[in-house]
Amino acid sequence: MMSLRQKGKSIGFVPTLGALHEGHLSLVRKARRENDVVAVSIFVNPLQFGPKEDFKKYPRPLKRDKELLKKEKVDYIFHPSAKAMFPQGFNTAVQVGAIRKSPLQNSLCAKSRPGHFQGVATGVIKLLNLAQPENVYFGAKDFQQALMIEKMIRDVNLAIRFHRCPTVRETDGLAMSSRNSYLSADQRRRAQAISRVLFWLQDQASRPAARARKLASLKQLARRKLIPFVTHIDYLDIVDLETLEPLKKIQRMMLAVVACYVGKTRLIDNVIIHT
Ligand code: PAF
Repeated sequence: MMSLRQKGKSIGFVPTLGALHEGHLSLVRKARRENDVVAVSIFVNPLQFGPKEDFKKYPRPLKRDKELLKKEKVDYIFHPSAKAMFPQGFNTAVQVGAIRKSPLQNSLCAKSRPGHFQGVATGVIKLLNLAQPENVYFGAKDFQQALMIEKMIRDVNLAIRFHRCPTVRETDGLAMSSRNSYLSADQRRRAQAISRVLFWLQDQASRPAARARKLASLKQLARRKLIPFVTHIDYLDIVDLETLEPLKKIQRMMLAVVACYVGKTRLIDNVIIHT
């Protein structure tokens, strides 16, 4: 990769856990349009899964993934083993949010999944060093992850342009996720409520009448709308778009965020609210 960079070729990189869907492919297509060379990694990073999470059962349809990437004219597929990435004796971690507590690195998914973002950051910084990209592409579905990696790149001065790309949705609104494959038909129908409630919030909060209202009551109503459809709400909030600080009052740009369980499957989603 270094020699490609030296030859003046721009490298676009899309890190993934595999089990690719249209969301991933939209990142790959953008990378293809914007770079000479496109590299995609498929690596189910064990460091980003908690002990009770779905590391073992995470889908790994490698053959299908490779075929999909070939169709998109991807130049390099990087599929390392966990041993190659983290050999015996590996003993370094990138701990985001370690210096001062900030909602971006210490709240929402960071709170519910201790160690998750440290695992993501440690894996991603290694992948970035291997791929040496000029551009890297992340999906907005994992909004906190995207902000956190963007910040990490700035914090440690990596010369990489970060791109956050829009969430791709199923026709009924459900955000695409490799974890959707865990859902039964009934759970799949119920999961539709997640984006429905987010879009409801987006609509309500952007109405002029909402200005006079406290966000707390809107959040409460949204919660009541979602509860009947899901097994458990981990969080449902309206937060600042950049800091992820929970908001009490309406402001121009906000982010409505949800994490919830449908059966045993944890799903996350978010929508930007412009008012
Ligand atoms: O969002 C994901 O798929 C993963 O967290 C990522 C970015 C590939 C890092 O392992």
